[in-house]
Amino acid sequence: MAGVGTWDTHDYDVLVIGAGGAGLRAAIEAARAGVKVGLICKSLLGKAHTVMAEGGVAAAMANVDDRDSWKVHFADTMRGGQYVNNHRMAELHAQEAPARVRELESWGALFDRTREGTILQRNFGGHRYPRLAHVGDRTGLEMIRTLQDHGIHQGIAVHMEFTVVSLLKDAGRVVGVVAYDRERGRFHVFRAGATVLATGGIGKAYKITSNSWEYTGDGQALAYDAGADLLDMEFVQFHPTGMVWPPSVAGILVTEGVRGEGGVLRNSEGRRFMFDEIPENYRSSTADNEEEGWRYVTGDKEARRPPELLTRDHVARMIRREVRAGRGSPHGGVFLDISWIKSKVAGGAEHIKKKLPSMYHQFKKLADIDITAEAMEVGPTTHYMMGGVKVHAETQMSTVPGLYAAGEVAAGLHGANRLGGNSLSDLLVFGKRAGENAASFAREHAAASVADSEIQSVIGRALQAFDRPSGENPFMVQRALQEMMQENVGIVRIESEVEHALGELELLRARAANVSVDGHREYNPGWHCAIDLDNMLTVSEAVARCALARRESRGGHFRDDHPGKDAALGKVNHVVRKGPDGRMQLEAVPVLPLPADLAQIVEENK
Ligand code: FUM
Repeated sequence: MAGVGTWDTHDYDVLVIGAGGAGLRAAIEAARAGVKVGLICKSLLGKAHTVMAEGGVAAAMANVDDRDSWKVHFADTMRGGQYVNNHRMAELHAQEAPARVRELESWGALFDRTREGTILQRNFGGHRYPRLAHVGDRTGLEMIRTLQDHGIHQGIAVHMEFTVVSLLKDAGRVVGVVAYDRERGRFHVFRAGATVLATGGIGKAYKITSNSWEYTGDGQALAYDAGADLLDMEFVQFHPTGMVWPPSVAGILVTEGVRGEGGVLRNSEGRRFMFDEIPENYRSSTADNEEEGWRYVTGDKEARRPPELLTRDHVARMIRREVRAGRGSPHGGVFLDISWIKSKVAGGAEHIKKKLPSMYHQFKKLADIDITAEAMEVGPTTHYMMGGVKVHAETQMSTVPGLYAAGEVAAGLHGANRLGGNSLSDLLVFGKRAGENAASFAREHAAASVADSEIQSVIGRALQAFDRPSGENPFMVQRALQEMMQENVGIVRIESEVEHALGELELLRARAANVSVDGHREYNPGWHCAIDLDNMLTVSEAVARCALARRESRGGHFRDDHPGKDAALGKVNHVVRKGPDGRMQLEAVPVLPLPADLAQIVEENK
């Protein structure tokens, strides 16, 4: 075995793993509570998937439409999540999001403004009223910038380019982690009274994704290995619009903000196919023009919405249908056109550049497309994980004491499908809650020591790939996994394919156990990939097992062999945990029933 060697030890009250929006917000809150906080990030500080929530942060501030309220936001979130959400999380989120956005503004975030000088809010899919506070199409970036600027003044110790390989437990609670620094390949032990997971999603288990290399399901897999419950892992969100061309950038996000600002989707015949989802008598006219929408009544007013702003699961499946029916764009997507609005707004092309500056530059630089004059080609991309670590709604503690989770790695708020913009408000609301509760737990539970032999065995396992001189290249296994998941457990699922996926996962696990890496430990990408592989395999198996069990279609989970909803399955969540034999177990548990007051809010907003 490669030498296990020694390790450095660091002591904190609260250790936060992940420095995207949720991790930063948790670290800020824990530091504010006066405890010693360490923050570990896999990449450089500021590089986080949070920046991929471009179009805005959802909060019922009612700046643009005064009919908005936390109740409508709550009802929209529950409807979007198809009622398998944790209702208490949805309630807290809708109630607390406006204060969290204003707090961020007070820390320096510069949101776009209304004429009256309040924070401007835009339309997004599934939100009844314009609700997304935004900074052009760079909202996530502005949020990270603000949290980072604020956070570095709170005395948080940041460890950049570290990967956690295992959580450490003592007497049934999590007391720290073993990690290695990617630059030197040296091991470190972090001891902590409480640990917060904020590691984001699992996008890299799929071939086409908006996620970058860090998102390999680390937090979900670490929690699972430590004995925590995972929840509703079948619910993966495929964002309808990612770039499809050129191949090197396939999957990069094209913000929903494009559709929020008036962008329309057309197939190769020039038809707005999203109207196929709207009954004929709800159309605002019969003409197929860009301004047409679907009519609905809200309060005492008739309103109009473009069909492109149906929830993401609908739009993604419709795009897939058009492509499969041979009505796609030349590179296997459909057309998204915002250029038409320039003749309708003051400022013309400049208006588009002002509203969507990143999209303008992204398409100009990467695809040589001027979005103020030409349509973009777009297709679905794996974007977000609704499932994840099961947490207590108010404290964010997982089912293992001392272990917390916030943001994308945690589950419950979004149910079967997340509404755009709810990820940014989620990480603010529940990042804060996780930080404050982790701090109070740490005050009552000092860090504990773990036997050196246990640490040595974790390190030994992490180094195994160096001991296999003739194993497979880990990147080959990763690619096979990504292609297999994309093909068999993607946007549209069917029993035989998911079963096939589970068989393939066993074979891939055997291959992963035999990968080998060359060279030394310093910045060794093959070694990093070998470590990530285990996490990707764990979360992929959880997704496949839950997808197989949910014999219905709901939100982000669509079963071609069960295209309708099943009332009984609509009342269950899926819990996944590691059984005593080390194998994955799945349990269907009842969805928490809605209390009468919340049920009434849902009913009134149907
Ligand atoms: O399309 C977007 O801007 C993504 C937003 C989100 O995922 O919340």
